[in-house]
Amino acid sequence: MVWWLMKGSWLLRPLAWARSCSGGAGRVSTVPASPPNLRFKPRTVEDLPRVSLWELLYRLTFQGFHSHMHELQILEKGRYGPIYRNGMNAVSVSTAKLLEEVLRNDDKFPNRGDMSIWKEYRDLRGYGYGPFTEKDERWYNLRAVLNKRMLRPKDALQYGDTIGEVVTDFIRRIYFLRQRSPTGDVVTDLNNELYHFSLEAIASILFETRLGCLEEEIPTGTQDFINAISQMFSNNFQVFLMPKWSRGVLPYWRRYVAGWDGIFSFATRLIDRKMEFIQQHLDNNQNVEGEYLTYLLSNTQMSIKDVYGSVSELLLAGVDTTSNTLTWTLHLLSKYPQCQEILFKEVSTSVPADRAPSAEEVTRMPYLRAVVKESLRMFPVIPMNGRILADKDVMIGGYQFSKNTAFNFSHYAIGRDEDTFPEPATFMPERWLQDSHNRPNAFGAIAFGFGVRGCVGRRIAELEMYSFLCHLMRHFEIKPDPKMGELKSVCRTVLIPDKPVSLRFLDRGSGHAA
Ligand code: HEM
Repeated sequence: MVWWLMKGSWLLRPLAWARSCSGGAGRVSTVPASPPNLRFKPRTVEDLPRVSLWELLYRLTFQGFHSHMHELQILEKGRYGPIYRNGMNAVSVSTAKLLEEVLRNDDKFPNRGDMSIWKEYRDLRGYGYGPFTEKDERWYNLRAVLNKRMLRPKDALQYGDTIGEVVTDFIRRIYFLRQRSPTGDVVTDLNNELYHFSLEAIASILFETRLGCLEEEIPTGTQDFINAISQMFSNNFQVFLMPKWSRGVLPYWRRYVAGWDGIFSFATRLIDRKMEFIQQHLDNNQNVEGEYLTYLLSNTQMSIKDVYGSVSELLLAGVDTTSNTLTWTLHLLSKYPQCQEILFKEVSTSVPADRAPSAEEVTRMPYLRAVVKESLRMFPVIPMNGRILADKDVMIGGYQFSKNTAFNFSHYAIGRDEDTFPEPATFMPERWLQDSHNRPNAFGAIAFGFGVRGCVGRRIAELEMYSFLCHLMRHFEIKPDPKMGELKSVCRTVLIPDKPVSLRFLDRGSGHAA
């Protein structure tokens, strides 16, 4: 039942079966919901079209949708309409309007679903829960601490110089990589390079230290951490599915725990190093100044175990998301040279050529922001999410749902909905620059989620991506590498390209552009 926990597929979907949706899973219905009988009773969950568990399993296993869950959203929407019970017995919504209705009814302490296997690891090792694993009032209080210095746009700006340094190093690395290619302008496996960039950027903020991911040789400890993330995700699904008694017999639990051990040992080592640094300063009666980690460590509401738990989850959430979004954005810019040209003009007229753009400047470029928004609409890095609404009964799309109904959000299908986005398969950043009457419904593309449980790293991610694109545009014109062929998307929790991406980086300053 928890296919989203398959390799790479993780936590942004409800795991719980909705109490109000707990009927059997055997019936396949293509019959549209019966018309409302307003005089007697409103339509309920029982009136919704429904995908059976068997149909879902068939599609995942025999039709190969297990790595194309995003495309399954479109197929199911075509068959069952914009609101239906999916094969997991949760209610799937796939229009901006329905999504808005659900989110406007969200709980005081929003809940994406059961995180018990993640919690189990933390309980086993005595770590605190982080923003993903914590719930209810404790989650709310934790977010109040984590949001500070991170969530408001002006909070993120203080990291502008730190990010700027990482971006500068990455540009240097692009020059280095492309001159190694036979034509002198191609960078291969860009997704991997951007993964290292994102890890370096988020670590430089969270740990206030540089890891060296953009050096020629990536440090061993760092590669171990990257491998540990992959190991944890690869075994997540099996651990969820298998009964507890099998843990001593089958290898999955052991590997899953080892994966988490690798993630936490990396994070705790860096946190401990910072603690020692702070302690030395205090012992010498010196002032302690620092950024995010120093702030967390000096916060009396957080124990060191809580800091371990939260920082590890922030680190985990902050790498694949930004790196894949940047990969898709560069791919789209290479395919749409006219958009790239507009972006280049905006960048070069907004900031003098002799200096790097400031963090404030990069956030003041409307086309740049529209480019990122449009890329995330077409390739939402988190293509599905959800909520369990537990506070009250709700009315969504004319249907009455009782408390504890689980809703799934088909963000990929919503972002490709023709009614909200004419020519949905075309990259058109301009659509986000129209006046408020003509702008698309904002719920059509909410890549960072919504409300109090929305992405805590949003402003940091935006700063990273804007700063990156701004610098890159000034150095290079990006063109497709004809050798790469067509690029498709696959869903491994996050929406990623189906193969290593390679692109041509033509020097803007040298007249090298072809
Ligand atoms: C392109 C970049 C990113 C995208 C598209 C993205 C998207 C999301 C989404 C959709 C959610 C769920 C929100 C909801 O349920 O309403 C989320 C949650 C979260 N994100 Fe991000 N994210 C990105 C980058 C980051 C970064 C850089 C960090 C770390 C600094 C981060 C940390 C988190 C955390 C900790 C949560 C869980 C929040 C909670 O449950 O309270 N994300 N993100």
